Amino acid sequence: MDQSRTPYFDVLLDYVDSGVIPFHTPGHMQGKGMDRALREFLGDNVLAIDLTQIRGLDDLLQPSEAIDEAQRLAAEAYGADHSFFLINGSTSGNQIMMMAAVNPGEQIALPRNSHKSAMGGLIMSGAFPVWMRPEVDESLHLDHTVTPETVRRTLEEHPAIKAVYIVSPTYYGVAADLEGIARVTHSYGLPLLVDEAWGPHFHFHPSLPIDALAAGADLAVNSTHKMLGSLSQTAMLHQKGNRIDIGRLKAVVKLFLSTSPNLVLIASLDVARRQMALEGHALLSRTIQLAEDTRRRLNAIEGVQCFGSEQIGKPGVFALDPTKITITVKALGYTGYEAEEILRRRYNVQCELADLFNCLALFTIGTTQEAADRLVYGVKELAREDRPIDVFSPSGVLERRLKTGTYALPKIPPIRMNPREAFLAPAELVSFKGSAGRICAEVITPYPPGIPVISPGEEITPEVVDYLDLEKKAGVRMQGPYDSELRRIRVVRET
Ligand SMILES: Cc1ncc(COP(=O)(O)O)c(C=O)c1O
Repeated sequence: MDQSRTPYFDVLLDYVDSGVIPFHTPGHMQGKGMDRALREFLGDNVLAIDLTQIRGLDDLLQPSEAIDEAQRLAAEAYGADHSFFLINGSTSGNQIMMMAAVNPGEQIALPRNSHKSAMGGLIMSGAFPVWMRPEVDESLHLDHTVTPETVRRTLEEHPAIKAVYIVSPTYYGVAADLEGIARVTHSYGLPLLVDEAWGPHFHFHPSLPIDALAAGADLAVNSTHKMLGSLSQTAMLHQKGNRIDIGRLKAVVKLFLSTSPNLVLIASLDVARRQMALEGHALLSRTIQLAEDTRRRLNAIEGVQCFGSEQIGKPGVFALDPTKITITVKALGYTGYEAEEILRRRYNVQCELADLFNCLALFTIGTTQEAADRLVYGVKELAREDRPIDVFSPSGVLERRLKTGTYALPKIPPIRMNPREAFLAPAELVSFKGSAGRICAEVITPYPPGIPVISPGEEITPEVVDYLDLEKKAGVRMQGPYDSELRRIRVVRET
């Protein structure tokens, strides 16, 4: 196929050029009905192509014209049999993969450090999780990936498992041995689903970890918007081989799509694919070079550590995406949250996320040398400063634990009910501190990084209460709970 084409962007431009008089949604009628402030800021061009799926513009739910061609171009560029454009991120991609691969009550193996959208997939599909422990780096307080050995052990111990779901790379750019995992999974006759939200660029550069489909995955989801040039919310789901029923997959994809998708988002996927297919190698070479150079400069700052390729080969670190820079500030005496706040407030630099010990900086094809210099300058100044008094200070408990290094992730709690049943069961709100022993009815996810600590159907353990309490005191935002302050928690009502 001709990868220089952008069939979907083109039909939108043709529609505008032909001067059609609109009597259709969206109601702003190509900007004319929109409040002036936003209209002027956005500009008329973007509003002119914010159209609906009328004749000639194809239908994302039943693509047969330009969207079909754009998706086929994407499939070819990514080495997939089929690619689907998504407009609700990899969040919907994770949910779709599970709905396509497992039935209510069936078991699926997945890592404990899966994104919260995997829990959404469990709740929607009714599947039962068999959690796999990722390898953990205690000194960085980071979960890495699961190993092929862990997958093999899990499949041996749970012969009823129907699919394996893996997160690779992690938020921090650590990639799993997907080829090894695919071999193990397929030797049991099972499909491999990969949350590759953070790897939409992998396919386009040999210095990046192998992409999930090339490694043997049957389904993989990419957040195109995270690392490439498309608009927020856009993602792609790729399928390859014959272990996934394509008819069922297509039916599930339709369930998750709006009947009024934002066509600008779809056009942005079309052009992001062309950009990668034509210029991906050159653009990514520059990005990788800039990131590696910046990592070296940051590592030269006393007290600052940014892990790199020396980690490869450690448990759960099969390969590394060099475009992610994890800035470990532990030795400076800051939490990652404090460092993030100082970098933003004083140096106008905003990181992608912070956790207890680290701040994460993304380098993409849009990162400039000037931006990288600014980051280095901010971190240098941060390392020189006395502990500031105007930023949030963690509790004494957290400080003591950070100093003595006794900050541990909680063990996976016992599963007492299927997540879907617990989520939908009659529930009540009880005091969070006194909730140990009860069955959780909600997903509680410190964000970032968006990995649930307790999920529906699991028994709330004293360890979980303690851990979440600490995260709360450290100023971490909790996603998911009914009471965002986590004074109370939703549990399954006892009969
Ligand atoms: C590992 C992982 N999977 C899935 C998602 C969800 O992706 P999206 O924001 O595109 O819905 C995220 C978001 O951060 C993520 O980190």
